[in-house]
Amino acid sequence: MNRRHHLLTLAASTLVLAAGSAQAQDTVKIGVLLPMTGQSASTGKQIAAAIALFQAQNGKKAGGKNVEVIIKDDAGVADNTRRLAQELVVNDKVVALAGFGLTPLALATAPIATQSKTPMVVMAAATSSITEASPFITRTSFTLPQAAVGMGEWAPKNGIKKVVSLVADYGPGNDAEKYFTDRIQLNGGQVLEKLRTPLRSPDFAPVLQKVRDAKPDALFVFLPSGQGAQFMKQFGERGLDKAGIRLIGTGDITDDDQLNDMGDVALGVVTTHHYSASHNSPMNKKFVADFQAANKFRPNFMAVGGWDGMRLIYNALNTTKGAGGEALLAAMKGQIFESPRGQVLIDGQTREIVQDIHTRKVEKKDGQLWNVEFDVQKAVKDPGKVK
Ligand code: PHB
Repeated sequence: MNRRHHLLTLAASTLVLAAGSAQAQDTVKIGVLLPMTGQSASTGKQIAAAIALFQAQNGKKAGGKNVEVIIKDDAGVADNTRRLAQELVVNDKVVALAGFGLTPLALATAPIATQSKTPMVVMAAATSSITEASPFITRTSFTLPQAAVGMGEWAPKNGIKKVVSLVADYGPGNDAEKYFTDRIQLNGGQVLEKLRTPLRSPDFAPVLQKVRDAKPDALFVFLPSGQGAQFMKQFGERGLDKAGIRLIGTGDITDDDQLNDMGDVALGVVTTHHYSASHNSPMNKKFVADFQAANKFRPNFMAVGGWDGMRLIYNALNTTKGAGGEALLAAMKGQIFESPRGQVLIDGQTREIVQDIHTRKVEKKDGQLWNVEFDVQKAVKDPGKVK
């Protein structure tokens, strides 16, 4: 009796083990690093919601495997991102790393992607050089040179000759400042001053005073997603709009996450960017409707980067039948697909996204504020890589 019991237990535990390994083989994991808390929490909230929507719409299977998404909160701190990414690779054996809400978080993780040969999909961060930090990086967000050059073209053709620029003082701000000011100067414009604010807890009062004193035709701004509303409020409170100084920038300042709460000071602000929630296509209308039905907020450009990043990974897993590493990376290169923003390409050489950049103006429609697109540059490659 005892012996029989022992054998039964053995058989049962072997079964459990076998089931465990069958499950492991049938499941691929995606490790997503996001700032769910801290100053950039809206980016985490948007991307996590977009990933959940993507899986609700497309199922939790790709390449014949179950797809399990593991989201970790890095609070926007690079040391956390690096440590959590290491754990996801070593302990969870993730097939891809994704997310990356800020440039320093992506750069901190790049060596882990290279060493472990794990494809890394940048869904948010937007400094041009990120994709050069590891051959395993692909990107579904955008680059600041892509967005800023469009404004350097539009402004001088629309009565804006003298500008002051104001950017957050780190990677994407450097890119925005350089590519906007180079292009507007090329087109006969003049840059009176180049101002910077710190990434963490910026105070806009002193720089706005400088802008007032310089009396430009317009102020060009790049601030990371999440800072636009506070900036816009101070711009209005200090009367810069009433002083006849126009506000222009990349679309990060009229971010759909916050735009509707900005009030009338945002009306008429012209920006260049890759995504507006009001983009007029059947696919985007469905995306926005589904997103708003599942969440009580509007998707912004971060959400689209997250949704398309999932598409990129699912497509690649379908090609490799669930295999990871270099095969998965190869299957990401050269992908072309329709996104809520329009058609996108993942450039096979640079692993960078190629996409349309729209010029948009904030308008009120049915009592809500939207970035209404009125002009487009088609299939823009990252100018930071066209050497
Ligand atoms: C970045 O840190 O790369 C970044 C963050 C937010 C943005 C754009 C760029 O809106």
